[in-house]
This record gives sequence, structure tokens and C-alpha cells, in this order.
Amino acid sequence: MSDFSAVFGAAPQAVADAPGRVNLLGEHTDYNDGFVLPIAIPQRTRVAMRSSPEARFSLYAQGQGDTVHFRLDSSPSEHFASYVYGCLMLARSHGAVIPPLQIHEESQVPMGVGLSSSAALEVATLRCLRELLALHFDDVLIARLAQRAEIEYAGVHCGIMDQMASSLADTTRALLLDTRTLERRFVELPAGSAVLVMDSGIARSLASSGYNQRRAECEEAARLLGLGSLRDVASAESLERLPEPLRRRARHVFTENARVLQAVACTAASEFGALMNASHASLRDDYEVSTPPLDRLVALLQAQPGVYGARLTGAGFGGACVALCHTPALSRVASTVLEQYRAAGQQGALLVPPEAALAAVAA
Ligand code: GLA
Repeated sequence: MSDFSAVFGAAPQAVADAPGRVNLLGEHTDYNDGFVLPIAIPQRTRVAMRSSPEARFSLYAQGQGDTVHFRLDSSPSEHFASYVYGCLMLARSHGAVIPPLQIHEESQVPMGVGLSSSAALEVATLRCLRELLALHFDDVLIARLAQRAEIEYAGVHCGIMDQMASSLADTTRALLLDTRTLERRFVELPAGSAVLVMDSGIARSLASSGYNQRRAECEEAARLLGLGSLRDVASAESLERLPEPLRRRARHVFTENARVLQAVACTAASEFGALMNASHASLRDDYEVSTPPLDRLVALLQAQPGVYGARLTGAGFGGACVALCHTPALSRVASTVLEQYRAAGQQGALLVPPEAALAAVAA
């Protein structure tokens, strides 16, 4: 454990943190101006800072066990540092006067599984800068700057869901967000239900995956339909004139937006769960971002008594699955499904609730 003082020899002047998120419904809709329904997860990323006696920035990432040095006039070559660097650059372009800093980052958010570890790092970095420099950045501005950092400095052409969720969501209620207007409200989970997240054990890489390709396909479909974005599709029939695979891509976005709006209106966990199951089928068949191990894990979850619904979550192409469960069943579902998945030759892991919290639920 190398905390700030152990690395830099003095206490930090500002500390902030931000959570990862899991998306319950509304996948691949945010860059189509659509609706999303994420919830924060208990795991958080913590960033600490103090002004540096040197003329350069020093960033220590506990996960890397390494310190990277850079100046603002040239971007660091280490990928993990580009998120922090991007946030510094965007805060500066928004009027912040930033002295050279010592920065310490540590994270509990699992990386590369679709739980927004990068958004948590970006939002925590901007929150910490806000605190250190007394900046008048509100939480929505922080989300917007964080999204731009990801697009412009990390090279992922993402929507705004992850950064809005990390900046504004909490772990007890889902955040219904209209990504076109950023209007939002909190939505209670159906009574007696809780969120379970499992890693499929299959690594995924956003930038090198088909993410940017899917986004381009959606833009092309909207252009062919004469629409500004797929949010404005009026009916499933209007998609018939699109060529494949654009028709299927657009159909996913159209039906997924409808599922989010249906989910926030339903009170029964079983109805909510059925919408999650339909979302997975649509992501698998129409959007084609699932993989055989993800399908297997989702099917195992869906077959368990006490599971209302399950689906892949995040961008897909590997990573995690989310399930809505009857709360008392969480522990049994987690252990049974992990065992069955192992028997099928795959190594999964429970991510949410974290092991220790699950023990408390079971008690
Ligand atoms: C990633 C992106 C988000 C969103 C999801 C898919 O997490 O960062 O903006 O597009 O994929 O729903």
C-alpha cells in the first residue's frame, strides 16, 4: 500500500473520489441521443493532489505501481496517464490555472469489464482539481469535461452516460438520463430486488473493439433515414428501408430506448427483468456486441430462481453481465452460477455486491 505521503513525502492538499457504474438498461443508446438507466457501484476511484515543488507533473497510479512524469505541453505516452492528462487539459481550457502537481490515484473499480473505471478516474480527477483550486465546476460540467477527456485524449468516441453516472448517480437508486437534454431523475429499484454484477472473465478493449464502428453505423443509419439521430426514429416499420446490418443496429437502438421508458414505469421486478432479458437478446442478435461466453453466463443467470432478468452490460465484446435478483437470493445465485460457469470451462467472478457486502446480505 503506497499512499500519497509514502510516495510524495507530504500529505495531499485535496482528495476526491468517484464511483464506477453499472448500466441496468439503455445500452448503446447514449451516442444516439437516447435514454439510459445506470446506477453507481460501491467501488470507487480516489485521487489526491498537492502542488509540486518541481516544474513537472508527477502521477502515481497504485494499480501500475509506477510514477509517470509529464508537462502540459506534451501528452504522456502511458495510456492510463492520458485520462488524467486529458482532464487537466480540459480544466485548463475551461479557465483553470493549474500549477505542476503531484497526483496519486488508486481504484477499487474493476478495469476493462464495462464498469466505467475510466469515467471514475476522470470524474475523481476533476473533482479533486475543483477542490484544490476552488473551481466553480458543477457536476454536469465535470461530466461533460470528463467525456471530452475520454474522446479527445483516450481516443474512445463514447457517449455521456458513464461520466454522468459517475458524477451524479448513487448506489441506491438508478439514474434515468435523457442523453439529449441531460434531463434526469432518480428511479427506485423494484421492491425487494438488488443488483448483481459478474465478470465473464473475457477481456474486452473498448477502443480496439467494434465500439467506434457501431457508432459510425448508427450515424450512417440516421443519415439514410434523414434524421439527426436514431433517437428520432418514429416506428420500427420506418427502418425497413435500411440495408443490413444498419437495419438491425437501428432496431436495437429503437427498441432499447422503448425498454428504458417501459422499465421506469413498471413496479414489478419480474417486468423489469423481462426487459433486461429482451435487451440482451437485442444486443446479441441485432447489435452483435455479445460473445459466446457472455451469452452463456447470461443464460445461467436467467435460469436461476430468484433472478428476474440478466444481460450483458457496458459496451459488450466481453466484460461483465448485470442481473436483477430477489435480494435474499443474491448469495446463492452468485455461488451457483459461478460454479456452473466454471464447469462450462470459464472463469467468472463476482463484482457487485463486493464479496464482503454480500456476506452481510446473506447474514
Ligand atoms: C461505453 C461508453 C458509453 C456507452 C456504453 C454502451 O461504456 O463509454 O458511452 O456508449 O459503452 O452503452
